Amino acid sequence: MSQTNNNAETEAAPVKKANERPKYGPPQHRGGHGRGRVVEKAVNFGPSLRRLLTYLRPEKLKLVLVFLFGIIGVALNVYAPKVLGRATDVIFSGAIGKLVGDALADPKLQDALPAVCAQLGCDPANPTKADVLNLMDFMASQPQGVGGSMPQMNSQMIDMLKSIDFTPGVGIDFHRLALIIALALGLYVVSALVMGAMGWLLNGIVQRTVYAMREEIADKLDALPLSYFDRQPRGELLSRVTNDIDNIAQSLQQTLQQMVQSVLMVIGVVIMMLTISGWLTLVAVVTVPVALVVVTQLAKRSQKKLPAMWAATGELNGQVEEAYTGHALVKVFGRHREVEQIFDQKNQELFEATFGAQFISGIIMPAMGFIGNIGYVAVAVLGGLRVASGTISLGDVQAFIQYQRQFTQPINQIASMANLLQSGVASAERVFEVLDEPEQTPDGPEQLPVPVNGLVSFNHVAFSYEEDKPLITDLSLTAQPGQTIAIVGPTGAGKTTLVNLLMRFYDINSGQISLDGMDTTAVSRAQLRSEVGMVLQDTWLFYGTIRQNIAYGRPGASEEEIMAAAKATYVDRFVRSLPEGYDTVIDEEGSNVSAGEKQLLTIARAFLADPTILVLDEATSSVDTRTEVLVQKAMNALRKGRTSFVIAHRLSTIRDADSILVMEHGDIVEQGNHQQLLDKKGVYYTLYQSQFAGPTNE
Ligand SMILES: Nc1ncnc2c1ncn2[C@@H]1O[C@H](COP(=O)(O)OP(=O)(O)O)[C@@H](O)[C@H]1O
Ligand SMILES: [Mg+2]
Repeated sequence: MSQTNNNAETEAAPVKKANERPKYGPPQHRGGHGRGRVVEKAVNFGPSLRRLLTYLRPEKLKLVLVFLFGIIGVALNVYAPKVLGRATDVIFSGAIGKLVGDALADPKLQDALPAVCAQLGCDPANPTKADVLNLMDFMASQPQGVGGSMPQMNSQMIDMLKSIDFTPGVGIDFHRLALIIALALGLYVVSALVMGAMGWLLNGIVQRTVYAMREEIADKLDALPLSYFDRQPRGELLSRVTNDIDNIAQSLQQTLQQMVQSVLMVIGVVIMMLTISGWLTLVAVVTVPVALVVVTQLAKRSQKKLPAMWAATGELNGQVEEAYTGHALVKVFGRHREVEQIFDQKNQELFEATFGAQFISGIIMPAMGFIGNIGYVAVAVLGGLRVASGTISLGDVQAFIQYQRQFTQPINQIASMANLLQSGVASAERVFEVLDEPEQTPDGPEQLPVPVNGLVSFNHVAFSYEEDKPLITDLSLTAQPGQTIAIVGPTGAGKTTLVNLLMRFYDINSGQISLDGMDTTAVSRAQLRSEVGMVLQDTWLFYGTIRQNIAYGRPGASEEEIMAAAKATYVDRFVRSLPEGYDTVIDEEGSNVSAGEKQLLTIARAFLADPTILVLDEATSSVDTRTEVLVQKAMNALRKGRTSFVIAHRLSTIRDADSILVMEHGDIVEQGNHQQLLDKKGVYYTLYQSQFAGPTNE
C-alpha cells in the first residue's frame, strides 16, 4: 500500500502534468463571466498558447488586414482629441480677441493711443496683435499706467497672450470652429467604421478557427477507444467539447480585438502626448506603475480569500441540494431543525469568506480611480501653469487630459485581457488533452467472407479493464454456426465483458478472437459489428415513431420487411392496440409503452437487421411479467439460424441452449449442456437449485 502511495507522490511532484489540474476548479456558473471570476490558469501556458495560435495560421492574411484596420482606426481615433483641442483654441483666441478689442475701445485709452502709437509705430485705428503686445510691453514699463486706465500689466500675462493667435476686436471664428468640429466628428465616425470592420473580420477568423477545432474534436471522439470514455466523466468531456470551445472563441475574439486596439492605442496616445509636452507625458506615465502595483497587491489579497469562498459556497450548495432532494426524508425523520442549523452555520461561513474577498476586490476600482484622479490633478495644475506661461495652448492641455484618460483605459484592458487569455489557453489546453489521447488501434484491412457463417471462437484470451486488475486471464470457447451459447454466472463474473470483447469495444491483451476463422482485428470494427445484433437489458429507443425505431435496424428497409419483423417478434399485436399504431411517437421516457413492449421493439429491430450473430445480454431482466413470455418467444424466433450468445439470470430461460458456460471471476468454470451440468452437481447445479428451491434471487 505505502509503496504505491510513494510512487504516486514522486511521480506527481516534479513535472507539471496536465492531468494534475484540479478537476473541480472555480465553478463556472457561480462567478459567471463577470469580474469576480478568478481565472483558471493554464498548466503550460507558453506551449499551449503557441499551439492555439497555430490554428490561426490559415487566417494569416486576414489577421494582417485586421492589424492594418486596427492601426488606421486607432490612428484616427487618437488624432481626434488633438483636433478638438484646436476648437478650444479657436474659442479661446476669439474670446481673447474680443476682450482685447473691448479694452482698446476704452475711451481713456483711445485718448492716449495716438500719442503712444506714434511712439511705437502702429496704426491707432486698427492695431494688430503685435501692436497690442508692444503696447502692453510699453504699458508694463510705465509704472503709473497709460491714461490711468489699464491695470498694471504683468509679464506673465503678456507671455500667455503671445502664444495665442488672436486679432484684436475679432471674436470667435464660428466658421472655422464648425469646420474643426466636423473634422473631429468625421475622424470618430471613420474610426468607428474601421474598427467595426476589424471586429467583423476577426469574428470570421475566430469562428472559422473554432469550427475547425470542433471538427477535429468530433473526429477525435470517433477515434477514441471506449476505455477513454470509461475513464472520463461524461460531464467533463461534454464541457470540453462545448464550454471550453466557446471559451476559446470568446477569449480569442476579445483578446485579439482588444489587445490589438489597446496596444496600438497606448502607442498612439503616448506619441500624441509627446507631441504636446514631454513633461506632462512623464507625469501621466508615472501614475501607471503606481496604479499597477496597488492593483496587483489588492488582487493578490482578494484571490487568497477566494478558495475559502468557493469552498464555503460548495458546501452550502451541497447542503441545500441534499436537503431538497431528500426533502421527504428530512420531513419523515423530523430532521428539519438540524438541517436548518447546519444551513445557518454554513451560511455564516460563506458570509465571512465572501465578505473578505468581495470587499477587497470592491476596493480595487476606487483605488484605481483615486490614483488616476491624482494624475489628472497633477496634469491640470502643470498644464495650467504652462498655458499661463504661453508654452502650451489651452486646447493642447484639454487634448492632453483626454489622452490621459485614453491612456489608462487600454492599460486596464490589457491587464484584464491577460486574464481572459489565461482562461482561453486553459480551455485550449483541455481540448488539446482530448486531441492528444491515444486513439484506438487502426482497423484491419481485410474483408469478412460473404456470407459469414457465424463460427465464433475465443483462443486463450486475456483481458483487463485496468492494468493492475486482471479479469480474464485465459479464456477459450467455440460457438459453431447457429448454436446458442448461454453464459451464466454471478454479477461481475465477466459475462458482459465477453460481449464487449467480441464486439471489439475493447482490445484484448493477448490471445485471439476470430469469426469464421478470421482474426477480428484483421477487419474493420464497422464490418464486424454489422454482423452482430445486440439486445441488452437497457432498451435504447429514440424520440420518434415506432416504425422509425424498428427501421433503425436496417436503413432502407421496406415497409413489408418492417412489418414482417414486427410480426415475427410479437410487436405487431400490441402496436395494433395503440390508437396511432406504428406512428405512435415514443417520447423521451418511453412512458407510453411498457418496459416489455420496449424490449419487443428492440428485438424487432435486431430481427430486421438480420445479423449472423446475436447477443442477448439479460434482455428479460427488466421486463414486466405481463410481456415476459412474449419477449421470450420473440427472442426464440430471433435466435433461429444464428449463432447466439444468451446471457441470462433466470436459468429456466436457457435450458435448451446448445452449450452453457458458467463463469466466475473472468473464468469459465463449467461448460456443457443443461443435463450434463446438472449431472455434474457443481456450480450450475447449486445455482439452479437455489433458483427453483427458494424464492427467486432477483
Ligand atoms: N468499463 C469498465 N471499466 C472497468 N471495469 C469494468 C468495466 N466494465 C466492467 N468492469 C468490471 O469488470 C468485471 C466484470 O464485469 P461484467 O463483464 O460487466 O460482469 P457481468 O458478468 O455482470 O456482466 C466487474 O468486476 C466490473 O466491475
Ligand atoms: Mg452484465
